[in-house]
Amino acid sequence: MQNIEAYQKSFIQYLEDFAVNREPKNLYEPINYILKLGGKRLRPVLTLMTCEIFGSDAIKAMDASLSVEVFHNFSLVHDDIMDEAPLRRGKATVHKKWDLNTGILSGDAMLILAYQLFENYDSETFRALAKLFSKTALEVCEGQQYDIDFESRDDVAIDEYLTMIEYKTAVLVGAAMKMGAIVAKASEKDQSAIYDFGRYLGIAFQLQDDYLDAFGNPETFGKQVGGDILENKKTYLYLKTLELGSSEIQSSLVSFINDNSIESDKKVESVKLLFNKSGASEATKNAVKQYTDKAFKVLEQLHISDEKKHVLKLFGEQLMTRRV
Ligand code: IPE
Ligand code: IPE
Ligand code: MG
Ligand code: MG
Ligand code: MG
Repeated sequence: MQNIEAYQKSFIQYLEDFAVNREPKNLYEPINYILKLGGKRLRPVLTLMTCEIFGSDAIKAMDASLSVEVFHNFSLVHDDIMDEAPLRRGKATVHKKWDLNTGILSGDAMLILAYQLFENYDSETFRALAKLFSKTALEVCEGQQYDIDFESRDDVAIDEYLTMIEYKTAVLVGAAMKMGAIVAKASEKDQSAIYDFGRYLGIAFQLQDDYLDAFGNPETFGKQVGGDILENKKTYLYLKTLELGSSEIQSSLVSFINDNSIESDKKVESVKLLFNKSGASEATKNAVKQYTDKAFKVLEQLHISDEKKHVLKLFGEQLMTRRV
C-alpha cells in the first residue's frame, strides 16, 4: 500500500500522457483544460487504492481510474452548464471560457473516451467494468435530472433528496472503488461491500459539498460560493431549514428564494443566516458524520487486514473535514 499523495502523483503522471493534443483543437483543448485543472483526484485514488487493498498492483487499475476521472470531469462540464456555474477549481468553466456548444460536445467526447479506456482490459474484466460503468453513468443522469426537477418543486422530502444525491454523486464513488476490486479480481462479497463503503462515503461527501457551497471560503473553495442558493437547489441545508426552522424562518427562506429583485450577495448572506439560525447547518454536519460512520460500519464485512481498514478509515475522516 502507498499513501494517498503517492497514488495521486502516479495518477497525475498517467493523466499527463493521456491528455495529448489532438485535432480538432476546439474539441480536445477544452478536454485537456478541464482534466488538467486539478481537483482532488479523489475517485481515481480510490480506484488505485482499492486495487491494492485487494492484493493487486495499482498500475493495473490505471486505465480504470483514468476512466472514472474522465467520466467525473465530463459530468462536471455538463453539470456546470446545467447549474449555470461560472467557476470550477478557481478557473472559468468550459462553457464560459469557450461556449455552450463546446461544453456539450467536448463533454460527449469525454464520456466516450472514458468508456474506451476499458478496451485495455481482458474480455472478462472489460465486461465487468463496462457493465458497472453503464449502470452507474445512467444513475448519475437520473440523479442529475432529479436535482434539476427539484429546483422548481417546493415539496421535496429529505428521502427524495437522499436518493437524488446517492444517484448524482455517491454511486460513482462506490463504482470507483468497485472497479479497483474488479481489476484485483476480489470476491463478489468484497466487491459489493467496498461498493457500499464508497456509496455511503459518497453520500457524506455530497452533504459536505452542499455545506461548503454555502459556507466554504471563497478564496480557496474554487466554485462560486452560494451558487446552490442562487439556483434554488434543494440542498440538505435548505430542506432542514424548512423542517427545523420556526414558521417565521420558514417563510423568510421561501420569500428570499423567490425574490429575484434582491442583489445576489445579499440573498446569499440572508439565506445563510437562516441556515444557521434554524439549526440546519449543524444538522448537515451531523449528517456528514452519520453517513461516514455508516461507511465505517461496512468495513467490518470486508476480508482485509486491520491495517488496510485503517487506511480506508483515514481516507473517510479526511473527507469529512475537507474544506475544498
Ligand atoms: C465535485 O466533485 C462534484 C460533486 C460530486 C460534489 P469534487 O469535489 O470531487 O471535484 P474535484 O474533482 O475535486 O474538483
Ligand atoms: C454534482 O453536484 C454532481 C455531478 C456532477 C454529477 P453539484 O452540482 O453539487 O456539484 P458542484 O457543486 O457543481 O461541484
Ligand atoms: Mg454544480
Ligand atoms: Mg449540479
Ligand atoms: Mg455542489
